Amino acid sequence: MSSPPHTPPHTPRTSRTPDVLVVGGGIIGLVTAWRAARRGLVTALVDPEPGGGAAQVAAGMLAAVTELHYGEETLLALNLASARRYPEFAAELTELTGHDLGYRRCGTLAVALDADDRAHLRELHALQQRSGLESEWLSGRECRRLEPMLAPGVRGGLRVDGDHQIDPRRLAHALLAACEREGVVLHRVWAERLTVGRGERATGVVTADGTALEAGQVVLAGGSLSGRLTGVPEAVLPPVRPVKGQVLRLAMPRTGVGAPLLNRTVRAVVRGNHVYLVPRESGELVVGATSEELGWDTTVTAGGVYELLRDAHELVPGITELPLTETRAGLRPGSPDNAPLLGRTDLDGLLLATGHYRNGVLLTPVTGDVMADVLTGGEPPEEARPFSPRRFGPRRFGAVPALSEQPA
Ligand code: GLY
Repeated sequence: MSSPPHTPPHTPRTSRTPDVLVVGGGIIGLVTAWRAARRGLVTALVDPEPGGGAAQVAAGMLAAVTELHYGEETLLALNLASARRYPEFAAELTELTGHDLGYRRCGTLAVALDADDRAHLRELHALQQRSGLESEWLSGRECRRLEPMLAPGVRGGLRVDGDHQIDPRRLAHALLAACEREGVVLHRVWAERLTVGRGERATGVVTADGTALEAGQVVLAGGSLSGRLTGVPEAVLPPVRPVKGQVLRLAMPRTGVGAPLLNRTVRAVVRGNHVYLVPRESGELVVGATSEELGWDTTVTAGGVYELLRDAHELVPGITELPLTETRAGLRPGSPDNAPLLGRTDLDGLLLATGHYRNGVLLTPVTGDVMADVLTGGEPPEEARPFSPRRFGPRRFGAVPALSEQPA
């Protein structure tokens, strides 16, 4: 890790009402605050633990190509736009903070274990080609030449050199440092209620300790909790829901001690379940992820761990030798069309940056730029226009519990 630049951090600009208040300090809230402050807006952020959230669980695949799905071509354009921004974004963040983000241009290999998986991957390959994406079909033998620890039964695969990875925990840490350097004022407390002033305009929030925080514009970026801030009129309440993902962390032997277990991300669909193995240069191997619609439950279950290990073992039998160092569950912010909600709502002064579902880490750079564009009075870039929160129209929901009443 290189040492931080020597320029002193900006002095927090607390002397007047902030231009922007970001509600939520996960990577999406942090990148929004950082980019807004970078554009000269006086910015504050409210979250009891900024830098936490789903990024603490996520594997950090930047997988626009291997995670392509039918019917998500519009989202593909946004995903690719963000993937293209990553090298410069990561370099800028590292330059500003001195933090190594674990950004690794290692590529991804999606493999098939049986005839059904092979047919599914062939279809994905055809879709990728129709979409003008780069991916190469490999035989089972070619896959094993690339990744010798793969199971002998691998029947073929797709090599995608353009799908990379980053360490989301390092990313969150660096974004928090970037916010601090840019003078973002951090309120380490829950936002309890949105305040809507005369003229039907969002004017700030009241926090769990009763403090009123005012701002010119409010960005709701609370991940899966975004629909739970009280005081948000039903018509503009974001339609996000929690989608649980259980993830394991294992420890690979340190590099330099024989060949690495894996050189790149390896993934497959096994019996209909997605499983991926993401090897980090640090020696961490991330194995994920379940996808469960269980509300606010973040329990790590024996069944979840069993299924992940069983499927990962079918791909790479050698993983059973590794120490299991961590099991954890997080909540993806799912939206009705699996795509984010970015930009202004029909309530003046209230913007959304949420609903990133499976792509929060990938979409971090483009989200920061889009939100900064809109917050400074501009229009979102072409590729972000389909993701306006207004696409869902007015919505009706029941009573919403307070954001602070989140699951343990
Ligand atoms: N993008 C990987 C996941 O959501 O599990």
